[in-house]
Amino acid sequence: MIINYQQLVAQIASSSIIDELTACDPANYSIKAIQRLRKRHSAEFVSLALHIAESRNRANRKFPDSEKLCFTPELLEQASAHPVAMHRAELLSGFGTILDLGCAAGGDLTRFAMVGSQVVGLERDELPAALAQHNLAQLGLSGEVLNAEFPCELPEFDVLFADPQRREKGRGPSGSKRRWDPAEFSPRPKDLRPLLSCKAWAIKWGPGLDLDHQTLSAEGALLEGMSRDEYELQVVSWNGQVREALFIGGEAKQSDLTAVVITGPIDDYIVHKFIGIETAAPTITEPADYLYDPDGSLLRTNLLNSFASENGMNIIAEEIAYLTSDAKVDSPFLTRFKRLDSIEMSLPKLQTALNNLDAGSVIIRKRGYPEEPEEIRKRLSLAGTAELTVLLHRSGNKHIAHICEKET
Ligand SMILES: C[S@@+](CC[C@H](N)C(=O)[O-])C[C@H]1O[C@@H](n2cnc3c(N)ncnc32)[C@H](O)[C@@H]1O
Repeated sequence: MIINYQQLVAQIASSSIIDELTACDPANYSIKAIQRLRKRHSAEFVSLALHIAESRNRANRKFPDSEKLCFTPELLEQASAHPVAMHRAELLSGFGTILDLGCAAGGDLTRFAMVGSQVVGLERDELPAALAQHNLAQLGLSGEVLNAEFPCELPEFDVLFADPQRREKGRGPSGSKRRWDPAEFSPRPKDLRPLLSCKAWAIKWGPGLDLDHQTLSAEGALLEGMSRDEYELQVVSWNGQVREALFIGGEAKQSDLTAVVITGPIDDYIVHKFIGIETAAPTITEPADYLYDPDGSLLRTNLLNSFASENGMNIIAEEIAYLTSDAKVDSPFLTRFKRLDSIEMSLPKLQTALNNLDAGSVIIRKRGYPEEPEEIRKRLSLAGTAELTVLLHRSGNKHIAHICEKET
């Protein structure tokens, strides 16, 4: 049976069914309640309405305007969260019409339009294309969504954005498998490459993928034949987690390497940037009064060394990303700890050091240390009142534990 998704989405949106369904927990819909709905509506209507309601109840974690938007759980999972998408929308605004190639239900597309850009979305699947068009309209934004599979004839555009699909098609968020070979992404990197001569462009990439220039500029890869100064690599963190890597080119490129940390609530966030160049590692020193755990965006951009030098900080062991300084450095790129004690790691020594500091609970973080924090924590017995953090790391052939108080 052929389903007209545009019509179906419009029918669902104009009924009160989503409000009725979101009033209770979608996971608890009884068979009876669903049977009652089936008496009034078609199976496709009920099934899609249930999916939209289920994602509506979760969408407020990603979108401040979630009550107006329609996703399915899978499309919500794929959508860029509002602060991250808005940051990108600002980056690409002012250069002309944006083509969002593979726009899904419009997480990014709606944010591009929200900052005033003209947008056109292209989406191969009918349901997300219909939802994206609906979401634009719901927010009072203009823009067109084309339902077609790239490579195909493209509408006119000045700016290209693509967020290639990395999950296997048609599997739900919990059961879906990520692809790690970019050649298997959709659209394929080698099909996107010829489009990167446009006025401005940005391609969203998995932050855990190989971000090395050699790999990315190799034959058949996304940036084939490009020199390193033709694009910017940004790595973006939000809520303390690295969310994405972004390659930016054309007139939208502002530097070569940028680490971005977005802090604050979803509707009142702040974007912090650190722009730098790759430099040699700072000196290794003894741990000073303060220890710092840097944000993953600095590590994935290889900007840690440059950040450390700029802030007068040192490292405490070779290839270990904890930083140290006697000065109290405040930065959204750092979690700061006041160092209370340092020992060569063994469980009895750690237990004694924690007892001496009246520890009642500990959080254990590690870099280059083999054992899992939870395994260590289970073997400690703590009877004090202080909430402490233990930073574990390798140093040459030893393992060191720093017992600290977390400050920020
Ligand atoms: C990761 S999602 C995009 C999510 C989107 N940026 C958002 O924030 O909602 C990728 C989308 O690209 C679409 N897609 C994949 N290959 C495509 C192709 N060759 N042509 C058009 N769309 C495609 C998929 O159907 C999927 O909806």
